[in-house]
Amino acid sequence: MIAEVEIDRIVAEQIARRSQWERRLPRRRTGYTRSRLLACDAYEVLALLWFPGAATPIHDHGDSYCATRVLAGELDVARYLRTDDGDDESKIAIRLVGRGAQRAGEGDALASARELHSVANPGFDEALSLHVYAPRYTTFGIYDESGVRIALAPSRYDAVLG
Ligand SMILES: [Fe+2]
Repeated sequence: MIAEVEIDRIVAEQIARRSQWERRLPRRRTGYTRSRLLACDAYEVLALLWFPGAATPIHDHGDSYCATRVLAGELDVARYLRTDDGDDESKIAIRLVGRGAQRAGEGDALASARELHSVANPGFDEALSLHVYAPRYTTFGIYDESGVRIALAPSRYDAVLG
């Protein structure tokens, strides 16, 4: 697993370059866009631009570690834990373990495939966040509130900036 101090360094590097990539982020009127800023064998860094009302479903990040950092605006983040023993993928159970607002400078980390979250921008302003995934993941699970995995989806980029 990637060390916390390493995450801080990776995030600080992208914040220092923010004027170079922020204006290149794709925009749309609803939802959110995912733009890759950096990718290497060990991890990738994405910038997510959240428009008012944007919301993800409950999802995992494959087997990857996920660290997030809000740069602007405010995100509403709900965290879930899998409570099943992991032996039977048809019997997944999840439990809400926390929910709260994250503002600029705040962040979160999901350390294993048993940790999930949903993220939304409930405000009237755009929000911007950085996401470090270590290692990169190609598919992720989407869940309903009862823990049923309703889809396995491919990880996609709206822009590849690095
Ligand atoms: Fe996520």
